[in-house]
Amino acid sequence: MTRSTGPAGSRPGCAGRLMLGVETSCDETSAAVVRDGREVLSNVVSSQVDIHRRFGGVVPEVASRNHAACIVQVVDQALREAGLHRRSDGTVGAELAGVAVTCGPGLVGALLVGLSFSKGMAYALGKPLLAVNHIQAHVYANALAYPELEPPFVCLTVSGGHTDLVMVDGWMSMRLLGKTRDDAAGEAFDKVARLLELPYPGGPEVDRLAASGNAEVVRLPRADLGDATYDTSFSGLKTAVARLLSRHSSLRREDVAAAFQSAVADSLLEPAFRALNDLGVDLLVLAGGVAANSEVRRRALARAAECGRRVLVPPPWLCTDNAAMVAGLGFEYLSAGRVADLSHNAFPSMELTS
Ligand code: KG4
Ligand code: ZN
Repeated sequence: MTRSTGPAGSRPGCAGRLMLGVETSCDETSAAVVRDGREVLSNVVSSQVDIHRRFGGVVPEVASRNHAACIVQVVDQALREAGLHRRSDGTVGAELAGVAVTCGPGLVGALLVGLSFSKGMAYALGKPLLAVNHIQAHVYANALAYPELEPPFVCLTVSGGHTDLVMVDGWMSMRLLGKTRDDAAGEAFDKVARLLELPYPGGPEVDRLAASGNAEVVRLPRADLGDATYDTSFSGLKTAVARLLSRHSSLRREDVAAAFQSAVADSLLEPAFRALNDLGVDLLVLAGGVAANSEVRRRALARAAECGRRVLVPPPWLCTDNAAMVAGLGFEYLSAGRVADLSHNAFPSMELTS
């Protein structure tokens, strides 16, 4: 399914530097055009969710093949929707300032499709290539949602592959404060969804089911790793859900989903708010697929109101994978002169700071 998301931006024609973004790190093929790092002119996302659902998760080789099959059409649509002109020689994109692409972390075959395509396009157009870190791009998604946003702030980045608490000193200067010791938050959602016999991807399904549940019926464990770390953990929680479901078959699945979601929210937000306090930072922003979770958002806002801090949460289309965040951060890379070589590789295990 291919869809265009985001605000219907004004079209080019007036001044401004346009960046093409390409994202293929997991199971969404996405392309976007962003002006001056902040204004989304187009954002096209082709999701493979329906293809992977029958396998219960993403099959890497299937993902790569599908990226290869649809990337040309997705990029073409993003350029057209942004109003870029096709020249008489057939080329499109002469107005672009550069081509930004996710180079890691992610599935290596999937990353290579976007990276190879983007290298070809940058070379053909004679434009710079920007090789963007996917986790940093999730953090940057907030700059698209809130164009006035500037560092410093703390960002809780919670996706299917990562759970990182990040001190954002500048767009090009991020520090890791803490991370998960085991599963990423999204991974925990997907695994618990399977225990609850919900389809892939589990996060949105658990969220929907929990809406009609009562989180107070059972109490599940929260990660408690002590005050000396901002790390968190989900392995104990996951095991507790499995044990609960096998021993108490009469429990309503809605209640288990609600109790799980509430334990995840606490395990994520406790270290995040402690970090705000310790570092004397006023603002927490959320990022990544799990930031779309209604309970995580609700609790973050409620907790901030209690302790006089601010929380920003991007709209759901900017939480999950999208190329607009890649184009936006690519603009910052270009402004800082961080241009990639055409020999640049994909890095499946790339860390936040690499
Ligand atoms: O950031 P993302 O789109 O891709 C990665 O970079 O991993 O995150 C995907 C993850 C999946 O694990 C999915 O189940 C989870 O985000 N997710 C959610 C929700 N929407 C997506 N988890 C909880 N509640 C949601 N509403
Ligand atoms: Zn992601």
